[in-house]
Amino acid sequence: MILKYCYGNPLETEAVIEKIRLTESVPAEDGVLPESGLDCLKMKEGGCGFTCSLSENDIVYGLGQQIRGINKRGWVYESWCSDDPDHTENKRSLYGVHNFLIIDGKECFGIFVDTPQRVRFDIGYTDRDILDVSMAANDYYLYLIKGDDPENIVKEFRRITGKSYIPPKWAFGYGQSRWSYRDEDEVREVVRRHRENNIPLDSVYLDIDYMERYKDFTVNEETFPDFAGFAEEMREQGIHLVPIIDAGVKIEEGYDIYEEGTEKGYFCRKEDGTYFTAGVWPGRVHFPDMLNDEAREWFGSKYKFLLDQGIEGFWNDMNEPAIFYSEDHLNEVFEQLEEYKDKNLDVNTFFEFQDLVRSIANNPEDYRSFYHQYKGEKIRHDKVHNLFGYYMTRAAGEAFERLMPEKRILMFSRSSYIGMHRYGGIWMGDNHSWWSHLLLNIHMLPSLNMCGFLYTGADLGGFGSDATEDLLMRWLELGIFTPLMRNHSASGTRRQEAYQFKKLESFAGIIGLRYGLLPYLYSEYMKAAIKDEMLFRPLSFVYRDDSQAKLVEDQLLVGESIMIAPVYEQNAQGRCVYLPEDMKMYRMRSLEDMDTEIMEKGYHYIQAKLDEVLMFIRPDHLVPVSSGGRCVEEVDENRLRVLGYIKDGAEYELYQDNGYEKDYNIQRHTSVIVLTPGGQLEETSCWKQMPDGMIVKK
Ligand code: GLC
Repeated sequence: MILKYCYGNPLETEAVIEKIRLTESVPAEDGVLPESGLDCLKMKEGGCGFTCSLSENDIVYGLGQQIRGINKRGWVYESWCSDDPDHTENKRSLYGVHNFLIIDGKECFGIFVDTPQRVRFDIGYTDRDILDVSMAANDYYLYLIKGDDPENIVKEFRRITGKSYIPPKWAFGYGQSRWSYRDEDEVREVVRRHRENNIPLDSVYLDIDYMERYKDFTVNEETFPDFAGFAEEMREQGIHLVPIIDAGVKIEEGYDIYEEGTEKGYFCRKEDGTYFTAGVWPGRVHFPDMLNDEAREWFGSKYKFLLDQGIEGFWNDMNEPAIFYSEDHLNEVFEQLEEYKDKNLDVNTFFEFQDLVRSIANNPEDYRSFYHQYKGEKIRHDKVHNLFGYYMTRAAGEAFERLMPEKRILMFSRSSYIGMHRYGGIWMGDNHSWWSHLLLNIHMLPSLNMCGFLYTGADLGGFGSDATEDLLMRWLELGIFTPLMRNHSASGTRRQEAYQFKKLESFAGIIGLRYGLLPYLYSEYMKAAIKDEMLFRPLSFVYRDDSQAKLVEDQLLVGESIMIAPVYEQNAQGRCVYLPEDMKMYRMRSLEDMDTEIMEKGYHYIQAKLDEVLMFIRPDHLVPVSSGGRCVEEVDENRLRVLGYIKDGAEYELYQDNGYEKDYNIQRHTSVIVLTPGGQLEETSCWKQMPDGMIVKK
């Protein structure tokens, strides 16, 4: 059941696409929401937020891309899309805003606060037993989703917010990225060294330096003299190039996009009607008004320049939007700095000085100084801030529909808001090569899935700071399960392509596992997307009556058959794993090299050497695997081996399609694999077993 309440005069974010009747908005005198039947949930006076009382063992899930654990209790979070590369525990906001929570206690219900303005979620920070949500402004929709359990609530929420984005199948392959591979030869070298070392690879990412002076929708002709030809050359080797697109458009005379945008009035303006000027990678830029339908259509149409050259995937960046400085504030700071020149910078003035210089980036005042045209109305940016990245990615998604209606195009974004999950995926932003960020990656996966973001993953190996061989390897051992599997790092950090390290065979083995698991992972992704389900679930979502499972935050279920327990500590040779039921453990070094053991429900310390991945299969569940390949195209999905833990016999619905079409008819694309209690394939109309145990499609 879904209840919708309206306070003030909220803006339509188009996060929810299902029409829902408005419930009587005025709460009863004691603040209880009409029709909700929930006594624990109370509106604050004047509607400026609400509180919810929590019992000792209640769990609060959600908030998508955020710091800290899967259970969000014990901190205060803020919804404000932020360009912050240091995801430490003291932070409150990251790049995306996902105002969806599930309170799992005596009553189990979901809450979605739909407003693009700042929201503060004090989840047991001020008072451990109180969830206190407050808004920057009293204009918002509040959705209450009631259901039997968290999975049910997620499904309902996803139903009203629309289907999750589905990328082309090649985007499930391994991607190598770096800020930046500067020219054709460097990209060729990356591909060659992967191929040479039998490390599968499907894509190479092009960071900002492929452009001419960081101008969107241009290519540097000196470093990529024949871009279309080069994209073709790569395709022949099974590689897709994935260029980055930034939010800011460089101010440069003669640059067509700048000139067209200025002429047509498509950039964000200040109060006085002149264009707002910010500074990002190219120096001074204007921001296209992504919220203005016409400007959005115009910006989206520009992807054609690259699509026409054979590009089939993009990543949208800097779209919080990040502001290194605004022209106006920078000038003010320069003026004020004069005063400090002759000062002895002492305890009183040094920090003042430092704060002044720091105030140039992402300054809240700057976000209040430009405007959008949204549905014909002039709106100050801070009132719609959290929609900018969503609408930039929507610009691309809508354009792909117009330009290439038949084809799936890879798209993922840095900033996001719920609703954007219909147009693209997200990556988890600029993490660091820190072990704690490997754990954070585990935590974010289910939280993002709840909010509809299925195509997601972190920069494997870590973006900032220097990676080590062991960190990269352990991170890849998680990354082989995440839909977006990309190794990415910042300029100036240690090179971290797998081939930079010594244990080449181990890297080849682990990344190879991804290609083996692809039939299962792709099938599970597609079913989750089609049925509005999660791919990564906390144990507590499935083992509802298991009080231990509720506490586990470093193991996840991946699809219906697998549980993972990644090792995320430096120098660990194994880890403690909780099995909520008997399971079959696979300790895997490569597709050809794994050992197994049936393990009983309960706690175990399980050995896992640096190059060993732990995977657990649930009883009477199956995992179809292929023999791998150098890229997704090479994976033979019609000749499979079935891993499983059979007690009474098992059945698996395998979803398969050609990987680029958009007809996601589940009946048409699904076949059933049935194993008897003895582990033999029960012949169906689709599959037959070969003497070597492999099953092949008839
Ligand atoms: C931002 C992105 C990062 C990219 C860099 C340069 O920091 O988050 O992924 O490499 O910009 O474009």
